Amino acid sequence: MTLKIAFSKPSPQKTICLGVYEGNKFPLPTQTWDKALKGYLKNSIETSKFKGKLNQSLSLFTPEGGRIFLIGLGKKEDQKEQHWQKIGSSLLTALDASPNGEGTVEIHSLEGSNDAEVAANLAFGALLKSWRFEKYFTKKKPEELFSIKKITFLTPSPETAEKVFKPLSKVVEGVFLTRSLITEPANVITPASLAKITEGLEKDGIKVEVLGDKELKKLGMNAILGVGQGSDKGTKVVIMQWNGGSKNEPPVAFIGKGVTFDSGGISIKPANNMEEMKYDMAGAAVVIGLLKSLALRKAKVNVVGAIGLVENMPSGSAQRPGDVVTSLSGQTIEVINTDAEGRLVLADVLWYTQDRFKPKLMVDLATLTGAIIIALGAERAGLFATDGKLSKELSEAGEKVGELLWSLPMDDAYDKDINSEIADMKNVGARGASSITAAKFLQRFTNNVPWAHLDIAGVTWAQKDLTFCAKGATAFGVRLLTQFLMKNHEK
Ligand code: BES
Ligand code: MG
Ligand code: ZN
Repeated sequence: MTLKIAFSKPSPQKTICLGVYEGNKFPLPTQTWDKALKGYLKNSIETSKFKGKLNQSLSLFTPEGGRIFLIGLGKKEDQKEQHWQKIGSSLLTALDASPNGEGTVEIHSLEGSNDAEVAANLAFGALLKSWRFEKYFTKKKPEELFSIKKITFLTPSPETAEKVFKPLSKVVEGVFLTRSLITEPANVITPASLAKITEGLEKDGIKVEVLGDKELKKLGMNAILGVGQGSDKGTKVVIMQWNGGSKNEPPVAFIGKGVTFDSGGISIKPANNMEEMKYDMAGAAVVIGLLKSLALRKAKVNVVGAIGLVENMPSGSAQRPGDVVTSLSGQTIEVINTDAEGRLVLADVLWYTQDRFKPKLMVDLATLTGAIIIALGAERAGLFATDGKLSKELSEAGEKVGELLWSLPMDDAYDKDINSEIADMKNVGARGASSITAAKFLQRFTNNVPWAHLDIAGVTWAQKDLTFCAKGATAFGVRLLTQFLMKNHEK
């Protein structure tokens, strides 16, 4: 059940949300209400912990049986897009207490803000936060499931709000698609089923090509094939193209790690938390959701999305530690640890993408290393880039949408660590700096095309509720890369 969003003109309501700035300063509409209620709002606040801070809310009843939700607006100076989105998210949480699963929010001009923009961004934040994955519950009663069904935003200019909201709602569709792909278990999402789902994007105007084991073998993608050889699910590389830009403009390319389950292979992982490795295809899922939203928005830009889909399993046919494979680039790799499989997948897909599409730049996303979680936790994704401008643009896009990155070094000194005794390189270095050596490994397959790598291992699956996302799959990257494209590459 997805949350419905509507915009309409102000009219009297029984349930109303009123804003309060930090330090309990009332904007004009709240002052007016307080006067009409003879100071009831002010008195109620004084006997509570509510301070008008962002994310705070207070639910009150009026003597006439109506309901008032006071919503913290935070600091007056902060009132930018993301700020309104955050308020939208706390609105949703507050309205969850409303009895009929519906809420109405009246928007009054606050100084220096535009009603329609405010309404659209409130709606965006609320909608992002509302996503739940409930399809496998068969026994829960409706009231045990997420209950808010509709929020109506009352604004003097509903048509304008609708217009501002429309492209945002397309981004949300991409985010939701990504979240559900990540959340689905690995018996449902396999390389073949995921490839099939991407073929469904053709109806939105995306060109989709699926390369299977046979084609990959013929091309020489032995690095990704080696990862998949222990699984009976097959290996696929999917190429998606959205051509919304001018004809001769080289594309921007996004590459995703799509390991539909990472058991570690023969270098098998411990049982504890192994079930989490269903989300080792999050990089691919972000690329899919991003392309979907670009198509829905009819974005004026040329984009290639390339994803490597494979399952990493131990079996009699599995790759062994010590095996040597010849990658598509011609470079040979000694596979020391079969659990360092993501870089083997990306090696071939990166090389293929730059060779075939001659892109302006490449950005890959991968749940690549446990070490990035040790370094950055769940607060930021690791950013590795060979191009200063690209690095800055990605970081800024992340700040703008609240998907934060942290840049790590790419000195050549780290590169030596992956030289092998018997091949061009090995797939793991020493224990230290292993997120960086993983990135240095990938760099060897970029052929000097401007490139950035986002290690999203720590930010893909939230262990607790976040501002724009309940516990679970976040789709980290979809909003960030949308912002990056809008700001720097869309016409
Ligand atoms: N998919 C994992 C990384 C990962 C770990 C993602 C935890 C999300 C949460 C990756 O394939 C992996 O196993 N990496 C190894 C590399 C090591 C063998 C050099 C790791 O990080 O332990
Ligand atoms: Mg692994
Ligand atoms: Zn993995």
